Amino acid sequence: MAKKLHIKTYGCQMNVYDSERIAEVLAPIGFVLSDTADDADMVILNTCHIREKAADKVYSQLGRLRDQKALKEQKGERMILGVTGCVAQAEGREVQRRAPYVDMVFGPQTYHRLPEMVARTMREHGHILDTDFPEDSKFDALPQTRTVEGATAFLSVQEGCDKFCTYCVVPYTRGAEYSRPTSQVMSEAQVLIEGGAKEITLLGQNVNAYHGLDHAGMSWNLARLIKELAALEGLERIRYITSYPAEMNDDLIRAHGDIEKLMPYLHLPIQAGSDNMLKAMNRQHTVAEYKETVKKLRAGVPGLALSSDFIVGFPGETDADFEQTMSLVQEMQFIQTYSFKYSARPGTPAALLESQPEYHVPESVKAERLARLQNLLNQNTLAFNMAAVGKTYPVLLDRVGKSAGQLIGRTPYMQAVVVEAPNDCLNSIQNVTITQAGPNSLQGLIVSRGNAGLSQRAHA
Ligand code: 5AD
Ligand code: SF4
Repeated sequence: MAKKLHIKTYGCQMNVYDSERIAEVLAPIGFVLSDTADDADMVILNTCHIREKAADKVYSQLGRLRDQKALKEQKGERMILGVTGCVAQAEGREVQRRAPYVDMVFGPQTYHRLPEMVARTMREHGHILDTDFPEDSKFDALPQTRTVEGATAFLSVQEGCDKFCTYCVVPYTRGAEYSRPTSQVMSEAQVLIEGGAKEITLLGQNVNAYHGLDHAGMSWNLARLIKELAALEGLERIRYITSYPAEMNDDLIRAHGDIEKLMPYLHLPIQAGSDNMLKAMNRQHTVAEYKETVKKLRAGVPGLALSSDFIVGFPGETDADFEQTMSLVQEMQFIQTYSFKYSARPGTPAALLESQPEYHVPESVKAERLARLQNLLNQNTLAFNMAAVGKTYPVLLDRVGKSAGQLIGRTPYMQAVVVEAPNDCLNSIQNVTITQAGPNSLQGLIVSRGNAGLSQRAHA
């Protein structure tokens, strides 16, 4: 359903131009321009500050809109009121003080963030944004929660995202961050374990920001949740995906050192190795901060393995930015990565950048960077796999192989291992010595049954 947007423009041609851009930015999230403020779902005053009288006009106009907004609210509807332009720029605080019912005050430099501001405003009032964003993007889909198939199960604990990375549609399509109550998570875990799950992967778009409430109304963070899950008998392995680097708090870092069942492998997407790009992506952390987090994690769990996501060809990415990504990858030795060419999602701030020629990275450059990055990443994965040869890992055998008498399982580091094994080993953890390694899988021999005596973290 289209929503009505009215923009009232005061002042010069600059403002007229800006108002057009504002309408363009809001179109993908469902707002259609309307000539009048009557019954509008959003009214934006694009203001002029050149004479005192011009600013006064804004305040009297706001007074009228306040009444209209109140009327709409009486009908259970909502009108978003925004002020931009030079008054917002020059005296934004004054606007908020004199007209606290204004939802958004934003300067002309920030209108690319408007979809984010609108989404946040709606959320604060319990509304969600009904957008035109194409659903089921390859980027925002998470594996669905499912019942146990064999010994490995997914358990969804958190949904939605409040981070607003500038390239990403998830905060618009999936809505605000929500954590399931702890009792629901714990009882679902119990059901999964009774159904045969030995490994549970906790799922969430921003899983490490988990903050579910317990019966007493107290909030548990992810570290607490993992600790409680680790106490459940029958559960052998815990993983979680996907994490936001700036949400790796000390409790969670400590949990990696303290909780044996928490696997020594973490998917921690960084997206790029250049601080400029991280800033443009609104990632809220620097490369150095990411490295510091990893250092702390590895102090607790030596040998902790990492995987990551990367975007190449983000608007404005220079050769030098990209080289920083390459050297980060070289330095961190990620064992798995998922890398993508940047693709513009309409309505996101980065899509606006991409549409400006000076920011646009040509397709051929994107393709070349992706190929170089993936080549390096594949080398790292292969080297990690080769280094496993001769070592013994506990392997959770949870699938039958292609040929008869073969089972396939996973090491603590998620490497697939093919072994010759009798069928009664299916869905059990076996100690496996690795005999051969390739880019995608390992082969090994069962040396002893069960997990007994072999830590899931330290490997001979
Ligand atoms: N273009 C390219 N990659 C994207 N991702 C998310 N949005 C985009 C986009 N617009 C990638 C990020 C994220 C992963 C799930 O998808 O790397 O971590
Ligand atoms: Fe999208 Fe992840 Fe950023 Fe959220 S944290 S906006 S889901 S990339």
